[in-house]
Amino acid sequence: MATEESIQLESFELTVGDLADVDVEKLHLLSMSVGWPHRPKDWDMLREVGQGIAAMDQIGRVLGSAMWFPFGDDFATVGMVITSPRLQTRGTGRWLMDRILQQTGPRPLGLNSTRAARRLYLSMGFTPEATVYQCQGEALPSSPPATLTATSLREAEFKDLPELAVLDRQACNADRSALLARLFEASKGMVLVRGDRIVAFSLCRPFGRGSLVGPVIASNDADAIAVTYPHVVNHAGGFLRLDTRQASGAFSEFLTRSGLPVYDTVTTMSLREPWLIREKDSTSVPPVIYGLMSQTLG
Ligand SMILES: CC(C)(COP(=O)(O)OP(=O)(O)OC[C@H]1O[C@@H](n2cnc3c(N)ncnc32)[C@H](O)[C@@H]1OP(=O)(O)O)[C@@H](O)C(=O)NCCC(=O)NCCS
Repeated sequence: MATEESIQLESFELTVGDLADVDVEKLHLLSMSVGWPHRPKDWDMLREVGQGIAAMDQIGRVLGSAMWFPFGDDFATVGMVITSPRLQTRGTGRWLMDRILQQTGPRPLGLNSTRAARRLYLSMGFTPEATVYQCQGEALPSSPPATLTATSLREAEFKDLPELAVLDRQACNADRSALLARLFEASKGMVLVRGDRIVAFSLCRPFGRGSLVGPVIASNDADAIAVTYPHVVNHAGGFLRLDTRQASGAFSEFLTRSGLPVYDTVTTMSLREPWLIREKDSTSVPPVIYGLMSQTLG
């Protein structure tokens, strides 16, 4: 019951609109309200590569968001699903996700779920597949990795993009070439060359509180370490983040040694078709995603 000191405000009337039409500062306020590190620039980039919806109250405040990112025509990731803390547990998350399912149609979907969202996605039929380790901290270069025989490491160049897109496609079984090209513009990249072929690569871009390394695509731990190490050196003393599904092994130990211990975990989930074990290309050793583009993009 309302008293002189309190007032009961139960009914929020929300309308849903296109996220592309919303002032980026309002989206930034929303993500800050749940403690997420995205800067307005990070929202801008996500809006360039994906689409989504925003829930607004009668005076235009943004109290909810949800986005999706097509990988070619036959798969999409879902992300930036946020409900303002004062509206949580009242069905807003479900309401937003129902609209995303309408927009994405019959496509198989993948996402990385926080603990807060797990119950929501499970109730919508998403299946858990794997754990993602969010590794971050103050970058601390340890001793350089041993030089790999018959390889050379160099900065990625624009002309490498088609080759990087092929490696990326083999690793994630979906066409992310448009996303990769956009990230490339904002990133510094490293490639590992063996013979005349690029066998591993990494990109690193400004994100949130510092910089984020991702994607990292390689066929083994040693190659993944070789393309990640230069970013650790470049950001020594600064805040660096990398999201990985490597639970243990040399790459995961390298991250801890480099000042990037596990800070949190999220769960990779999928709807309609498994995401991580989709049909692989029939090449010899398939490359693997050692570092995600981001939790939102996979
Ligand atoms: C995750 C989040 C979007 C959920 O939004 P929401 O508006 O609270 O979601 P809803 O009210 O629609 O609840 C969805 C389901 O979770 C259940 N639920 C929500 N909060 C709950 C709680 N605290 N305890 C138990 N169940 C809860 C609801 O009962 C509902 O289940 P149902 O569909 O089976 O009825 C919101 O908590 C949030 O923004 N969190 C911070 C950002 C985040 O983690 N986003 C997820 C990114 S993957």
